[in-house]
Amino acid sequence: MSEERAAALDVPTLVSALTLEEKAGLLDGSDFWHTQGVERLGIPAVMVTDGPHGLRKQAGEADHVGLHDSVPATCFPPAAGLASTWNPDLLTRIGAALGRECRAEEVAVLLGPGINMKRSPLCGRNFEYFSEDPNLAGELGTALVNGIQSEGVGTSLKHFAANNQETDRMTVSADVDERTLREIYLPAFERVVTGAQPWTVMCSYNRINGVYASEDRWLLTDVLRDEWGYQGLVVSDWGAVNERDAGVHAGLDLEMPSSGGGGTTVILDAVAAGTLSEKDVDLAVTRVLDLVNKAIPALAPGQGFDVDAHHVLAREAAAASAVLLKNDGGLLPLATGGGPIAVIGEFARSPRFQGAGSSQVNPTRVDTALDALRAATDVVFAPGFVIESEQADPALVEAAVAAARDAEVAVLFLGLPPSYESEGYDRAHMDLPQHQIDLLNAVADVNDNVAVVLSNGSVVTVAPWQHRAKAILEGWLLGQAGGAATADLLLGVVNPAGKLAETVPVRYADNPTVGAFPGEHGHVRYGEGLLIGYRWYDAHQLDVAYPFGHGLSYTTFSYGDLDVTTGTDTAQVSLTVTNSGARAGTETVQVYVSDPQASVYRPEQELRGFAQVTLEPGESKRVTVELDRRAFAFWHPALRNWTVEGGEFGIRVGSSSRDIRMDTTITLEGDDVVTPLTVESTADAWLAHPAAGEWLRTSLTGAFHDMLFDPKNGQMMRAIPLVRLSRFPGFPVSETQVTEAVQRFS
Ligand code: BGC
Repeated sequence: MSEERAAALDVPTLVSALTLEEKAGLLDGSDFWHTQGVERLGIPAVMVTDGPHGLRKQAGEADHVGLHDSVPATCFPPAAGLASTWNPDLLTRIGAALGRECRAEEVAVLLGPGINMKRSPLCGRNFEYFSEDPNLAGELGTALVNGIQSEGVGTSLKHFAANNQETDRMTVSADVDERTLREIYLPAFERVVTGAQPWTVMCSYNRINGVYASEDRWLLTDVLRDEWGYQGLVVSDWGAVNERDAGVHAGLDLEMPSSGGGGTTVILDAVAAGTLSEKDVDLAVTRVLDLVNKAIPALAPGQGFDVDAHHVLAREAAAASAVLLKNDGGLLPLATGGGPIAVIGEFARSPRFQGAGSSQVNPTRVDTALDALRAATDVVFAPGFVIESEQADPALVEAAVAAARDAEVAVLFLGLPPSYESEGYDRAHMDLPQHQIDLLNAVADVNDNVAVVLSNGSVVTVAPWQHRAKAILEGWLLGQAGGAATADLLLGVVNPAGKLAETVPVRYADNPTVGAFPGEHGHVRYGEGLLIGYRWYDAHQLDVAYPFGHGLSYTTFSYGDLDVTTGTDTAQVSLTVTNSGARAGTETVQVYVSDPQASVYRPEQELRGFAQVTLEPGESKRVTVELDRRAFAFWHPALRNWTVEGGEFGIRVGSSSRDIRMDTTITLEGDDVVTPLTVESTADAWLAHPAAGEWLRTSLTGAFHDMLFDPKNGQMMRAIPLVRLSRFPGFPVSETQVTEAVQRFS
């Protein structure tokens, strides 16, 4: 970018100086990765690129699905790993590093993070998303966006919204009720928008209840801007535009990649025909120019970044991302010096450290666990299998068994082949390749001390084989330093602290979307409503292999002295956590809220806050978690608003969603909730209304009074809409009086 362009743009003046053609042009990309510039007015083009767990800037041929190479950049763990850290501070630091790498490459906006909910374990892009829980995803997304933007580089919060599968992703309609959208699929976006103001939000490809996200005015304007106060720009996912003029009116400012002028023509024609107002165009242009303005300061050439320091950070992140699922008899950390360790599995030598598609980063270097373990101790290696093969290789199996037979411990690196999960399609099943499980069985037949390290972007079935391993380290996809970080964890150089951000069900058939994923004939019905992830397994009292929030450490923690103070609709939870083991370690305290007295169905418990604490052996610290109003609120379907119903709430504090260590009940005053009456409201609903109840009680006389309050049949009568009762011969209130009363009391 040249010096004279570095001055800030005077946006209002420019908007009046631009011709309509230039304005329509600014709402379209100029190629795959750039906005358009307007030379005569000194408006520069800016570059946006993927990510988001690293920079994917293509210097040569461009595509948006990761086919062509990009410049080297640090590959941090993808979101599935980062989410398991439950560590917002770490994510902010990673974000700042990502921001520096963008600046070094003069990139204005990094296209991420993706914060869609993990509705099904089979979504092909789950590795790019944080969690099945909106609260956790929202907190971590906010931290990452704040980190990136602290370097003067923008983000693109994606994919807005209800993009929870890859099958038919460009057309499928996610059919989902408003309460579920509000409580499950939108809150993570809301949290990041209100807490970090991402420079851009990327609308998703799919439709929501039949309307394309790219032209959904309710979503892009009413909710995003008017309710949440979003100030930035909305960009289309690459190729998500359906009808460009409808998109501009809905609040979709920028079409990407370039439509080759097609979108511009549609806009110009619609303005000429009077179906799109120039005001809408001006608003979108203003947002594009605001984005360019924000980007200008960071686009000075010649800024580098510290490649080594970022690799060190990637290693720290990777170690924090892995989750120790199981560690029977304290098999881990590995004891070294007592004979060789058998390291088995091709993944130890050829790590799978990120997923495929638009997020694929060209790493600055790649560590392998095999090299790192070899550098630290005596190792015998056997690859055991070919990663992309569906068949066992008998010679490789034989060599692996031989290596395991003579070793004290066998560490098996198992995982999903890259072709199993990717952007663009969903997984066919939740299982590891059968030949890998056969290999585990063969190894466990000759060696009792087996530790499994998993590489997978989203959960895999462990129930059929996990009894053959004493220890399991869930390694997700850990980025370019994942190999060294895995060795750090196995050897106890770093104490594991990761916790599951998604439940590991016993079997695929237990998950809530069976029968309703990925949908059919263009529709996917979110019939499970609020009950995704642990909310479902809890509601159905299903055993799980490993619960949401689970993760072991090489030390142990005890909880005590729970104290909860309350406001009208808020609470503050404090407790003391003690490291009761022999090593320094980090614990994540999780606070779940239940609402047993609600007038609507509420999940058994919901994560509403968490805090992380690092403790030396024997050390104790007081931990405090603030619960705001939203921690207790639900989206009231009739009031169409967030509501806190007064009454009792359960506060559960635990080390996982199923390892609740302490709990208590609090009482909150909450809101004055008056459910509005309609002509269809039952007599019961009328009687429950503070003012209308009084009116009805005094109006009810004679036989109908007795009938409605009859101990035997009264309940049945009161379940009838009042307007229907009013039509019964002799009912003391007329239909007209009911209709008038609806007006009077609403
Ligand atoms: C993906 C986005 C990505 C964009 C640009 C799309 O196919 O869904 O996540 O940012 O391409 O590569």
